[in-house]
Amino acid sequence: MTMASRVLLVLAVALVAAAGSCSASWELNIRMPTSASQRLHAAMEDGAVHVAPLIHALRPLLGSGGEMGSLGGVACDSWLLGVEAHNVRGWKTIPAKCEGYVGHYMLGSRFRRDSKVVIDEAIAYAEGLKLAGNGKDVWVFDIDETTLSNLPYYATHGFGAKPFNATSFNAYVLEGSAPALPETKRLYNKLVSMGVKPVFLTGRTEDQRVITETNLRRQGITGWMNLLLKQPGFKGSAVAYKSGERQKLQDAGYAIVGNIGDQWSDLLGAPEGSRTFKLPDPMYYIG
Ligand SMILES: *[C@@H]1O[C@H](CO)[C@@H](O)[C@H](O)[C@H]1NC(C)=O
Repeated sequence: MTMASRVLLVLAVALVAAAGSCSASWELNIRMPTSASQRLHAAMEDGAVHVAPLIHALRPLLGSGGEMGSLGGVACDSWLLGVEAHNVRGWKTIPAKCEGYVGHYMLGSRFRRDSKVVIDEAIAYAEGLKLAGNGKDVWVFDIDETTLSNLPYYATHGFGAKPFNATSFNAYVLEGSAPALPETKRLYNKLVSMGVKPVFLTGRTEDQRVITETNLRRQGITGWMNLLLKQPGFKGSAVAYKSGERQKLQDAGYAIVGNIGDQWSDLLGAPEGSRTFKLPDPMYYIG
């Protein structure tokens, strides 16, 4: 498949990641090889596009990432594993040749499936906790790509293949339309039912508080103890900011029984929390 033979397609796409629990939809511009686009046009027929079957139909054409995403000897699936294991660090954009691979990873069943493993483990861990039951047990949640998905934005911006554009991304955030990640929501609801208090700890800034709260509530996420946003003027790293906020929680007498995020910078730096959970995110890296 030559990248030169790509054509631009506009698909109306339902959020596969939220299938069954959320009806969010958006327009997706995705580049595909011509033969794949022909297959897609045939499948579209009356314009009623059902994404999940389409993705599956396209997968054999685009490859599972091993060969198709070959990049100077490093295949996209190996690159993604390196990212998740935090062996590949400090990257600014995904390898250009991996745009198709990451797009299929995110829009097909794989991202949801990988997320489900994380959440199943987190829930099993939570069920085994001996809670203090004094209202001081908290679980730290990151927001972007952990609680809310910005896939509607990234799907139209190369799935992380294009350099981060703060202007367009912030405009998207201010819509307050990001869908909840259904697996994380399952954990969230479970913890609330157990009396563990959710604390949101996000790199979003204080000026985004109202829209962030609105977005969470629109997605049926309520009952958090605290929403911690970055204060204006904070200049340190994400690890310094987030570990510093966790330290303040601990100093105030809270027990951080768990901590979940999509970035390693959500999870590194003492106090990490009694246990950490890393959700997949092949689209961007925050150090
Ligand atoms: C970033 O996004 C804004 C708003 O969509 C756009 O006007 C601008 O050209 C973009 N910048 C780059 C470098 O692409």
